[in-house]
Amino acid sequence: MFAVTAARVDAGDPLSGMDLGERPDPVPPAGWVTVTVKAAALNHHDVWTLRGVGMSADRLPIVLGCDAAGLDPDGNEVIVHSVIADPDAGGGDETLDPRRSLLSERHDGTFAERVAVPRRNLVPKPAALSFEEAACLPTAYLTAYRMLFEKSGVQPGATLLVQGAGGGVATALILLGRAAGYRMWATSRSEAKRERAVKLGADQAFPAGARLPERVDVVMETVGQATWAHSVRSLRPGGRIVICGATSGDASPAELTRIFFTQLSVTGSTMGTRDQLGRLARFCEQTGARPLIDRVLPLDQARDGFAAMIAGDLFGKVVFRC
Ligand SMILES: NC(=O)c1ccc[n+]([C@@H]2O[C@H](COP(=O)([O-])OP(=O)(O)OC[C@H]3O[C@@H](n4cnc5c(N)ncnc54)[C@H](OP(=O)(O)O)[C@@H]3O)[C@@H](O)[C@H]2O)c1
Repeated sequence: MFAVTAARVDAGDPLSGMDLGERPDPVPPAGWVTVTVKAAALNHHDVWTLRGVGMSADRLPIVLGCDAAGLDPDGNEVIVHSVIADPDAGGGDETLDPRRSLLSERHDGTFAERVAVPRRNLVPKPAALSFEEAACLPTAYLTAYRMLFEKSGVQPGATLLVQGAGGGVATALILLGRAAGYRMWATSRSEAKRERAVKLGADQAFPAGARLPERVDVVMETVGQATWAHSVRSLRPGGRIVICGATSGDASPAELTRIFFTQLSVTGSTMGTRDQLGRLARFCEQTGARPLIDRVLPLDQARDGFAAMIAGDLFGKVVFRC
């Protein structure tokens, strides 16, 4: 089968380690099934893998890709939950299993014509969502769903600031938050992206680092170093930062004094459960919210999608059609 594989890791030149070509078909172990992939979405995770972050050489080559929508062996339309884990080991939450991994970390991923996954990781795809839209849900949108509805601790009507408006998780936060009745503010380094954020549903968008008209209840962080100080300064006393990523690196300084003096909370968030993925799919079906797709490319043009992500030249998700 055709697949996009991480063959080598290179921190400075991630695209140099990517291979496009034939790979053996998956052989599913007991309890696993083979899904025929119709669409697969790109995440920053795939770039991190090629840079060698969270990936060791002894696991290569490995097929890239966390997210997919496709057909199960009976022809049912399904969405694949990417977290490979034992829910019991995480006290009912598979993301808390200390041995959990995502597809493409220990097991071949979704940038292929076929992928093997545990049967319990399949969630029905609502007919109202296209395969391309459904493929966006398992990582970026599921992460945004958990950040908004489990971790933020605030109710609809609250004001939430999303840093780095153009990213996959950031656009998901704006879109889902707006659909749920939160007042979504956003920042971006790019004026064009700020305009698009407002069209997407943000109430207002500001240049990166700008002073806000008032302090917000929650900040949603995926950027890290480049925006951390601004995130801490933008919160009302007692507010909360929910963080799921640090694209620009770890935060330094950590702003500890301001965090304790204004009694802020910092809450980490990673992915979501299979049950949350099912609820997210239903949320989209019921509200009419649809993932924002920047571009759809054939899988054999995956290199172009990776290059756009590395350049930060995206607004929404890149989806590969398989
Ligand atoms: N914990 C989890 O479960 C989880 C799940 C998904 C993603 N993540 C992590 O979250 C991060 C975002 O993922 P993604 O897939 O949404 O990535 P992405 O689509 O590449 O998003 C990157 C966005 O971050 C902003 N950004 C990047 N570098 C910046 C800098 N130096 N200064 C200011 N802004 C910068 C940009 O916003 P502007 O250009 O608009 O300023 C850009 O649009 C990644 O680090 C990823 O690994 C974690």
